[in-house]
Amino acid sequence: MQDISEYLVKNKERFISELIHLLKIPSVSADPVYSQDVINASEAVMASLLEAGCDTAEICETNGYPIVYGEKIINPELPTVLVYGHYDVQPADPIDLWNSPPFEPVIKTTDIHPEGAIFARGACDDKGQMYMHVKALEFMVKTNQLPCNVKFMIEGEEEVGSENLGTFVAENKEKLANDIILISDTGMIANNVPSITTGLRGLSYVEVEVTGPNRDLHSGLYGGAVANPINVLTKMIAALHDENNHITIPGFYDKVEELSKEEREEMAKAPFSLENYKKALDINAVYGEKGYTTNERNSIRPTLDVNGIWGGYIGAGAKTVIASKAYAKISMRLVPHQDWKEITELFKTHFESLAPEGVTVKVTPHHGGQGYVTPIDNNAYKAASKAYETTFGKTPIPQRSGGSIPIVSLFEKELKSKTILMGFGLDSDAIHSPNEHFGIWNYLKGIETIPYFYQYFAELSK
Ligand code: BES
Ligand code: MN
Ligand code: MN
Repeated sequence: MQDISEYLVKNKERFISELIHLLKIPSVSADPVYSQDVINASEAVMASLLEAGCDTAEICETNGYPIVYGEKIINPELPTVLVYGHYDVQPADPIDLWNSPPFEPVIKTTDIHPEGAIFARGACDDKGQMYMHVKALEFMVKTNQLPCNVKFMIEGEEEVGSENLGTFVAENKEKLANDIILISDTGMIANNVPSITTGLRGLSYVEVEVTGPNRDLHSGLYGGAVANPINVLTKMIAALHDENNHITIPGFYDKVEELSKEEREEMAKAPFSLENYKKALDINAVYGEKGYTTNERNSIRPTLDVNGIWGGYIGAGAKTVIASKAYAKISMRLVPHQDWKEITELFKTHFESLAPEGVTVKVTPHHGGQGYVTPIDNNAYKAASKAYETTFGKTPIPQRSGGSIPIVSLFEKELKSKTILMGFGLDSDAIHSPNEHFGIWNYLKGIETIPYFYQYFAELSK
C-alpha cells in the first residue's frame, strides 16, 4: 500500500475542518427540538460519502431518523467490508459545565492530547470516529488502492436505542451482505497502548414509578402515617445490592459467563494504574462488587445503576410535603449469555415484590440489547491486529469494554457476520459528559490505520 503519511500531511487541515463542519450540526436524537438538525446531519454524511468516492449513497427513511447507506463495489469476487457508525449524538446537558459551547467546536491541547483535541459533542462518539472511515475511504479511492468492496451504514438513532435499525437490517439483508462489519465506536487503552475491543456489554434499561397517596400531602399532617413514595423507592433501590455489592435479583447471575483463572490473569496483564484512575475522577477509592478488580467490574461483570431519580419538591427553599409519586431510571449492564429480555422480567418481578403495602409500583422497560464477544482467532482480528502493528509499532491488546452497542449482536443474528471493533477514543475523552473531545492524533491515527485493515483483510481472505 502506498504510504498514507504524505496524504495525511497534505490533507490534515481539510480533514479537521470537514469534521468540524459535521460537529457544528446539533444532531441530538433524544430531543425533538433538534429533529431538523438530525436530518441535516444525515444529509451531510451522505454528501461526504459521495465526495469520498462511494459510487452511490442514499438516505433510507425509517419510522425514525434516516439511515445513510453508501457503497463502492469494485469486484463482487472480492470481500466486502460493512462500516457501521452513528451520526446522532447525546444531549449536551448539563450545558453550564462545558468550557466552550458543545456545537461550536474548538481545538485545545490537554495533558493527554498535546497535539490538540477537538472539543464538541459527538467529537469522539461517534462523528469523529465514523468520519475516520470516510476519510480512509477517500484515501484508498483517490490513490487507487481500495483492495475490496465497501458498504457504509450510518444511523441516526444509536443514542436512543437503534429502534428502527433492526427492521432496516432484517429487510435489507442482501444489500447489507458482507464478510466483516467494521466499527469505530469504542476506545483504546492509551495512545501508546493500542488495544482492540473484543467485548461489549448488553443492556436493560427500565423506568420505575412508585405511587403512594393520590396527591401530594402536608408532611406534618400525614407524615409518619402513610408510606412516603420517595422513602420507599430509595429503600427498594438500596435492597437491589447486598453488602458485597452483588445484585440481589433472584436468577440475575444464572447465565453469567464466569471467566477462567487463566482468562482473568490474561486480563490483568493489560497496563492499568489504579492511582491514575482515581486521580482522573477525583475519588479517594474505587467501589464495586467484592472479589473483582476494577477492570473486571467494568467489563466482564454485570451491574445495576440508578441513572436518575426524582420526585417531591426540588425547588428553592423548603416545602414540607410528601409526594404522591417517586421515579427512577435504572440501567443494568449485562454480560454475554445474559438475555436482556429475561433480565428485564426478573427485575420487574423482583422489584414489584419489594414494594411494601401502601404503595403501588410500575416498571416500564425502555430498551436493551445483548452483549457481544468478538472472536480473536479469525482473519478479521488478525488483519486488525496487523494494521495496528503497522501504524502503532506495537501489537494491540485485546480488551473487553463495558459499554454497549446492542446492534452488534443483532448484526450477527440477521447478517451472520462478525464485527471488529477498532476504537481510537480514550476513556478520558468524556463521551456523554460535558467537554467531550477527540484527539487530533487519534483522529489521524484512525485514518492511517483503517486502510491497512482493508489491505490485510483482503490479503488474508484470498
Ligand atoms: N459508543 C458508545 C458505546 C461505547 C463507548 C462502547 C465506549 C464501548 C466503549 C455508544 O454510542 C453508546 O453510548 N451506547 C450506549 C447504549 C445505547 C443503547 C444507548 C451505552 O453504552 O450506554
Ligand atoms: Mn457511540
Ligand atoms: Mn454514545
